[in-house]
Amino acid sequence: GSASLLTSAGVLSSCMSGMNHGDAVVPQVNTGLFINPLKIPKTVSGNTSLVTQNTSEALLSASKVNVLGYGEGILGPTIRVKKGDNVNINLLNKLSDHSNIHWHGLKIPADMDGHPDQMVMSNESFNYKFSVNQQAGLNWYHPHVHKSTAVQVTQGLAGLFIVESDEEKSLALPSGEFEVPLIIQDKRIASDGTIKYSPTMMEIMSGYLGENILVNGTHKPFLDVSTRFYRFRILNGSSARIYNLSLSNSAEFYVIGSDGGILPQPEKVKNVILGSGERLDILVDFSTMKVGEVVSLKSETFFTMGNAQGNQPFDILAFNIKRQENNTFKLPSTLIPVPKLPSTSIKRVFTLKMDMMSSDGMHKINGKVFKSGRIDETVTLGSTEIWEFDNSTGDEAHPMHIHGVMFQVVARMGGRNVILPHEKGWKDTVLVAPGEKVQVAMTFEISGKFVFHCHNLEHEDDGMMLNFEVK
Ligand code: C2O
Ligand code: CU
Ligand code: CU
Repeated sequence: GSASLLTSAGVLSSCMSGMNHGDAVVPQVNTGLFINPLKIPKTVSGNTSLVTQNTSEALLSASKVNVLGYGEGILGPTIRVKKGDNVNINLLNKLSDHSNIHWHGLKIPADMDGHPDQMVMSNESFNYKFSVNQQAGLNWYHPHVHKSTAVQVTQGLAGLFIVESDEEKSLALPSGEFEVPLIIQDKRIASDGTIKYSPTMMEIMSGYLGENILVNGTHKPFLDVSTRFYRFRILNGSSARIYNLSLSNSAEFYVIGSDGGILPQPEKVKNVILGSGERLDILVDFSTMKVGEVVSLKSETFFTMGNAQGNQPFDILAFNIKRQENNTFKLPSTLIPVPKLPSTSIKRVFTLKMDMMSSDGMHKINGKVFKSGRIDETVTLGSTEIWEFDNSTGDEAHPMHIHGVMFQVVARMGGRNVILPHEKGWKDTVLVAPGEKVQVAMTFEISGKFVFHCHNLEHEDDGMMLNFEVK
């Protein structure tokens, strides 16, 4: 039953001092042949119902094991709406524990946002109703249950939410079978074949890493492709794992969008480091490759994130170049302009710190852990602010996420020291590496109570989350 799936992070209170999370052993990703056809979640409209439930899915072998999902099988359907649409989604929670849905990336009223104080109890339902008035982009949905977000997401509760617009349509980007969603997640799988979520205290510090990389719930997936451009809509839906995405033949690809929509122009890159919660919209040109070739989407080694998790390269998804096709798509030189935000003198600084000796949670923002009902920051409706995430003395990476807004990255100081190609558009989650201070700017357009937090789900469940109120 689901009850046994839901462990609490309360184990932290018994944390001993004197341990160094750098000592944590990083599990190696399992290797093997990519023999399973990539599963594609089904697409539904914004008028639908979702059921959080115990269901089953074939993961490592052909026999099905128990997982969580929003319908039949792991994950949920891809919800696809057009800018301006009204959404009406009924959630029925059939878990024995409470759950809810947070619409990650959607700028919607606070009472629909899935704040950790807005729970849907076991066997109850809630009607999420809102209209979508934001730019086209790849958003996603998942539970936001304080201290149980990680276990519920890891067991299978997550899905994509795509917003389309006429402006985006006019770019004539690859669509239909040539637009492929990729939810990348790592899972630890027990000997009985089920997803195991039971982080040790060490793993709560450094992040819980699974040995098996799944894409759309498919282990060792492949995709047959033609010699043409494809559009991949990528979500890092992992709890803690950071990927350095690249192609195994070192080919360049084009970033055309990130969390909150399309970039002003395509950015040609060889790799992108993507933290948990971040999204990426890319175009890959397979016309430069030959029929019969196999090229993989992989994670390349990297050394900028602290800990040791970037120490191993591994393949994620194999592309079998199967069919010759005349490539008719021409990459536009400009995409969708990103407006400049008004300048502002309002700045808040948030120091990201690990406190080993703390009994209420080790991962803190400005020395605090999450407390339900306590408003940590008050923001004036309509104002533009700069928030600085200061990880300059930290030694862990934190993908920082703010609800209720889309922001622009305006500076990164220390560490990688630049605004990266995929950060040149609207974002809601930004990876702050050890040694870095990252500044984001945003205008607060929606009133109400929201949270901001680290999207490393172990850190979030450990309390690395604060409340803010816009009024
Ligand atoms: Cu995707 Cu508050 O989270
Ligand atoms: Cu969110
Ligand atoms: Cu963190």
